[in-house]
Amino acid sequence: MFRQIAIQEMGHVERLAERILFLKGDVEMVAAGPVEKITDAEKTLKRAAEMEHEAVGIYNECALKCSQNSDAVSEQMFEGLVADEERHFDQFDKQLDNIKRFGPNYLALQSFNKGAAGGLGAGAVALMNARIVPGADAVIRAAHLEADLDGADWMITGEGKFDSQSLHGKVVSAIAQVARRHDVQVAVLAGTVEVSNWQRAGIHYARPIALGVPLPEAMQRAPELLAAAARQFAEAL
Ligand SMILES: [Fe+2]
Repeated sequence: MFRQIAIQEMGHVERLAERILFLKGDVEMVAAGPVEKITDAEKTLKRAAEMEHEAVGIYNECALKCSQNSDAVSEQMFEGLVADEERHFDQFDKQLDNIKRFGPNYLALQSFNKGAAGGLGAGAVALMNARIVPGADAVIRAAHLEADLDGADWMITGEGKFDSQSLHGKVVSAIAQVARRHDVQVAVLAGTVEVSNWQRAGIHYARPIALGVPLPEAMQRAPELLAAAARQFAEAL
């Protein structure tokens, strides 16, 4: 998160410098202040949130001044910066809130468990003595998938977008692993197929069900498109 935000801040500097140069001004790159060395994670987040809040105030004032001086382009630029800084503030603030809610374990868990679901998982670990397992494995166990595979020839699975990520740790790859153990072939019927080396991942059939169909229409017609793709798969056997 810090890295992502820092990259966006560098983008801001670039935008500001370009605008100043466009308006025939001079750009002098100097540090805004001395570097503050904070080693405590919570204090770092607090200070970062504070700085984002300050930046929101400064950029809002700048936008107002630009508007008063009839410079709509600079005004819009500053409005864009305000929106970015508000989002940064919100990201830092959410992390602070999670530390408060889930305790010191929360930060350690972020290194391997990201996103909103990560926050929930961290809470369960901190408060309920839970254990984190990959989602696909948990669902495969809960659905008793392995028991149903006895005597099956094919396992048909699907995904919205079947891409290289699908072959690395996502549901499709977990399913393919289970199928391989039971000597069952795997077919993937997906909205789009954007990966070509699926055979190497132990998948025997892959087909896009909505080729050339715009996404909103594909989502609306999903049952019909899926049924057609399933029929074509069955006919190809
Ligand atoms: Fe920011």
